[in-house]
Amino acid sequence: MLLHIERVLTAEQVSRCRQALQQEAWVDGRVTAGEQSARAKNNLQVPQDAPVSRELGDMILGALGRNPAFVSAGLPLRVFPPLFNRYDTGMEFGAHVDNAIRFAGPVRFRTDLSCTLFLSDPADYDGGELIVEDAYGEHAVKLPAGDMILYPATSLHRVAPITRGSRWASFFWAQSMVKSDEQRTLLYNLDNTIQALSLKVGQGDPEVVALTATYNNLLRMWAEV
Ligand code: NI
Repeated sequence: MLLHIERVLTAEQVSRCRQALQQEAWVDGRVTAGEQSARAKNNLQVPQDAPVSRELGDMILGALGRNPAFVSAGLPLRVFPPLFNRYDTGMEFGAHVDNAIRFAGPVRFRTDLSCTLFLSDPADYDGGELIVEDAYGEHAVKLPAGDMILYPATSLHRVAPITRGSRWASFFWAQSMVKSDEQRTLLYNLDNTIQALSLKVGQGDPEVVALTATYNNLLRMWAEV
Protein backbone atom coordinates (compact mmCIF):
# COMPACT_ATOMS: atom_id res chain seq x y z
CA MET A 1 0.00 0.00 0.00
CA LEU A 2 1.19 3.45 -0.96
CA LEU A 3 -0.35 5.89 1.53
CA HIS A 4 -0.26 9.67 1.47
CA ILE A 5 -0.51 11.00 5.04
CA GLU A 6 -1.37 14.69 5.10
CA ARG A 7 -0.08 17.27 7.57
CA VAL A 8 2.23 15.08 9.64
CA LEU A 9 4.02 18.33 10.53
CA THR A 10 2.46 21.77 10.88
CA ALA A 11 3.78 24.71 8.82
CA GLU A 12 5.61 25.94 11.96
CA GLN A 13 7.28 22.56 12.46
CA VAL A 14 8.35 22.46 8.80
CA SER A 15 9.94 25.90 9.05
CA ARG A 16 11.65 24.90 12.30
CA CYS A 17 13.16 21.92 10.46
CA ARG A 18 14.26 24.07 7.55
CA GLN A 19 15.84 26.70 9.77
CA ALA A 20 17.77 24.15 11.78
CA LEU A 21 18.89 22.21 8.68
CA GLN A 22 20.02 25.37 6.92
CA GLN A 23 22.91 25.69 9.35
CA GLU A 24 24.08 22.10 9.03
CA ALA A 25 27.10 20.73 7.24
CA TRP A 26 25.61 18.38 4.65
CA VAL A 27 27.65 15.36 3.58
CA ASP A 28 27.58 12.95 0.64
CA GLY A 29 24.44 10.77 0.95
CA ARG A 30 26.32 7.58 0.12
CA VAL A 31 27.28 7.22 3.82
CA THR A 32 24.00 5.40 4.60
CA ALA A 33 23.60 3.56 1.29
CA GLY A 34 24.05 -0.15 0.62
CA GLU A 35 26.54 -1.30 -2.01
CA GLN A 36 24.11 -1.32 -4.95
CA SER A 37 22.30 1.87 -4.04
CA ALA A 38 25.55 3.79 -3.42
CA ARG A 39 26.24 3.58 -7.14
CA ALA A 40 22.86 5.12 -7.97
CA LYS A 41 22.83 7.75 -5.22
CA ASN A 42 23.73 11.40 -5.68
CA ASN A 43 22.41 13.61 -2.89
CA LEU A 44 23.37 15.27 0.38
CA GLN A 45 22.52 14.25 3.94
CA VAL A 46 22.85 15.57 7.43
CA PRO A 47 25.13 13.17 9.37
CA GLN A 48 23.14 10.54 11.27
CA ASP A 49 24.78 11.44 14.60
CA ALA A 50 24.38 15.24 14.27
CA PRO A 51 22.46 16.63 17.29
CA VAL A 52 20.02 18.33 14.91
CA SER A 53 19.05 14.93 13.43
CA ARG A 54 18.12 13.68 16.88
CA GLU A 55 16.27 16.84 17.90
CA LEU A 56 14.21 17.14 14.72
CA GLY A 57 13.84 13.37 14.52
CA ASP A 58 12.27 13.31 18.00
CA MET A 59 9.79 15.98 16.91
CA ILE A 60 8.85 13.90 13.86
CA LEU A 61 8.54 10.69 15.87
CA GLY A 62 6.31 12.51 18.38
CA ALA A 63 4.04 13.73 15.57
CA LEU A 64 3.89 10.25 14.04
CA GLY A 65 2.99 8.61 17.34
CA ARG A 66 -0.10 10.84 17.48
CA ASN A 67 -0.99 10.28 13.83
CA PRO A 68 -3.89 7.78 13.53
CA ALA A 69 -3.23 6.99 9.84
CA PHE A 70 0.44 6.15 10.47
CA VAL A 71 -0.39 3.99 13.47
CA SER A 72 -3.25 2.17 11.72
CA ALA A 73 -1.55 1.68 8.34
CA GLY A 74 1.97 1.04 9.59
CA LEU A 75 1.32 -0.86 12.83
CA PRO A 76 4.86 0.22 13.79
CA LEU A 77 6.91 -1.85 16.19
CA ARG A 78 9.94 0.44 16.03
CA VAL A 79 10.80 3.44 13.91
CA PHE A 80 14.34 4.18 12.77
CA PRO A 81 15.59 7.64 13.85
CA PRO A 82 14.65 10.01 11.00
CA LEU A 83 17.40 11.16 8.62
CA PHE A 84 17.45 14.26 6.43
CA ASN A 85 18.42 14.58 2.81
CA ARG A 86 18.56 17.15 0.11
CA TYR A 87 18.70 17.02 -3.68
CA ASP A 88 20.02 20.13 -5.39
CA THR A 89 19.73 20.81 -9.11
CA GLY A 90 21.24 17.92 -11.07
CA MET A 91 21.02 15.42 -8.20
CA GLU A 92 18.99 12.21 -8.28
CA PHE A 93 18.78 8.70 -6.84
CA GLY A 94 18.48 5.89 -9.39
CA ALA A 95 16.31 2.79 -8.99
CA HIS A 96 17.08 0.72 -5.88
CA VAL A 97 15.56 -1.20 -3.00
CA ASP A 98 16.44 -0.10 0.54
CA ASN A 99 18.52 -2.40 2.76
CA ALA A 100 16.42 -5.07 4.48
CA ILE A 101 18.16 -4.79 7.85
CA ARG A 102 19.36 -1.62 9.53
CA PHE A 103 21.14 -0.75 12.75
CA ALA A 104 20.15 2.11 15.01
CA GLY A 105 23.00 2.01 17.52
CA PRO A 106 22.99 -1.53 18.90
CA VAL A 107 19.39 -2.17 17.76
CA ARG A 108 18.99 -4.23 14.61
CA PHE A 109 15.67 -4.17 12.83
CA ARG A 110 13.91 -5.12 9.63
CA THR A 111 12.75 -2.36 7.29
CA ASP A 112 9.13 -3.13 6.39
CA LEU A 113 8.02 0.43 5.69
CA SER A 114 9.79 3.29 3.95
CA CYS A 115 8.76 6.85 4.73
CA THR A 116 9.50 10.15 3.01
CA LEU A 117 8.38 13.32 4.73
CA PHE A 118 8.57 16.30 2.38
CA LEU A 119 10.11 19.52 3.74
CA SER A 120 10.11 21.65 0.56
CA ASP A 121 7.22 23.42 -1.09
CA PRO A 122 6.65 21.65 -4.47
CA ALA A 123 6.65 25.09 -6.16
CA ASP A 124 10.28 25.56 -5.09
CA TYR A 125 11.71 22.81 -7.32
CA ASP A 126 11.12 20.93 -10.56
CA GLY A 127 11.65 17.20 -10.95
CA GLY A 128 12.52 15.34 -7.74
CA GLU A 129 9.45 13.09 -7.75
CA LEU A 130 9.75 9.94 -5.65
CA ILE A 131 8.82 7.20 -8.12
CA VAL A 132 7.63 3.98 -6.54
CA GLU A 133 6.98 0.82 -8.55
CA ASP A 134 4.39 -1.74 -7.57
CA ALA A 135 2.24 -4.37 -9.30
CA TYR A 136 0.11 -1.59 -10.82
CA GLY A 137 3.01 0.31 -12.38
CA GLU A 138 4.90 3.45 -11.41
CA HIS A 139 3.61 6.11 -9.04
CA ALA A 140 5.17 9.58 -9.04
CA VAL A 141 4.92 11.26 -5.65
CA LYS A 142 5.53 14.94 -4.91
CA LEU A 143 3.77 16.24 -1.82
CA PRO A 144 3.25 19.51 0.02
CA ALA A 145 5.77 20.29 2.77
CA GLY A 146 4.70 18.53 5.97
CA ASP A 147 3.04 15.60 4.14
CA MET A 148 4.45 12.08 4.10
CA ILE A 149 4.35 9.04 1.85
CA LEU A 150 4.39 5.58 3.42
CA TYR A 151 5.20 2.64 1.13
CA PRO A 152 6.40 -0.95 1.44
CA ALA A 153 10.18 -1.11 1.75
CA THR A 154 10.10 -4.05 -0.67
CA SER A 155 9.34 -1.60 -3.53
CA LEU A 156 11.83 -0.59 -6.20
CA HIS A 157 11.96 3.22 -6.13
CA ARG A 158 13.96 6.21 -7.29
CA VAL A 159 14.10 9.99 -7.04
CA ALA A 160 13.87 11.76 -10.41
CA PRO A 161 16.59 14.31 -11.25
CA ILE A 162 16.07 17.84 -9.94
CA THR A 163 15.99 20.32 -12.80
CA ARG A 164 15.41 23.47 -10.70
CA GLY A 165 15.73 24.38 -7.05
CA SER A 166 16.31 22.05 -4.12
CA ARG A 167 14.20 19.32 -2.54
CA TRP A 168 14.56 18.69 1.20
CA ALA A 169 13.04 15.76 3.01
CA SER A 170 13.23 13.52 6.02
CA PHE A 171 13.39 9.81 5.31
CA PHE A 172 13.30 6.80 7.56
CA TRP A 173 12.09 3.23 7.96
CA ALA A 174 9.91 1.33 10.36
CA GLN A 175 9.65 -2.28 11.37
CA SER A 176 5.99 -3.18 11.49
CA MET A 177 4.34 -5.62 13.88
CA VAL A 178 2.89 -7.16 10.69
CA LYS A 179 5.61 -7.99 8.16
CA SER A 180 3.32 -8.58 5.17
CA ASP A 181 2.14 -5.55 3.21
CA GLU A 182 -0.92 -7.54 2.10
CA GLN A 183 -1.96 -8.29 5.68
CA ARG A 184 -1.28 -4.71 6.82
CA THR A 185 -3.45 -3.41 3.98
CA LEU A 186 -6.34 -5.71 4.97
CA LEU A 187 -6.08 -4.58 8.60
CA TYR A 188 -5.95 -0.92 7.60
CA ASN A 189 -9.02 -1.23 5.38
CA LEU A 190 -10.89 -3.15 8.06
CA ASP A 191 -9.97 -0.57 10.71
CA ASN A 192 -11.16 2.29 8.49
CA THR A 193 -14.43 0.49 7.79
CA ILE A 194 -15.02 -0.12 11.50
CA GLN A 195 -14.33 3.57 12.27
CA ALA A 196 -16.74 4.74 9.56
CA LEU A 197 -19.42 2.24 10.60
CA SER A 198 -19.09 3.23 14.28
CA LEU A 199 -19.83 6.84 13.34
CA LYS A 200 -23.05 5.73 11.65
CA VAL A 201 -24.38 3.18 14.12
CA GLY A 202 -22.37 3.74 17.32
CA GLN A 203 -19.48 1.83 18.87
CA GLY A 204 -21.76 -0.39 20.91
CA ASP A 205 -23.58 -1.78 17.88
CA PRO A 206 -23.27 -5.62 17.96
CA GLU A 207 -21.92 -5.83 14.40
CA VAL A 208 -19.30 -3.15 15.18
CA VAL A 209 -18.31 -5.15 18.24
CA ALA A 210 -18.09 -8.33 16.14
CA LEU A 211 -15.97 -6.65 13.46
CA THR A 212 -13.71 -5.13 16.13
CA ALA A 213 -13.22 -8.61 17.58
CA THR A 214 -12.27 -9.89 14.13
CA TYR A 215 -9.80 -7.02 13.67
CA ASN A 216 -8.15 -7.77 16.99
CA ASN A 217 -8.04 -11.49 16.36
CA LEU A 218 -6.46 -11.05 12.93
CA LEU A 219 -3.90 -8.69 14.46
CA ARG A 220 -3.22 -11.26 17.20
CA MET A 221 -2.72 -13.95 14.55
CA TRP A 222 -0.38 -11.88 12.37
CA ALA A 223 1.52 -9.58 14.72
CA GLU A 224 5.06 -10.26 15.94
CA VAL A 225 5.99 -8.15 18.97
NI1 NI B 1 15.51 4.38 -0.98
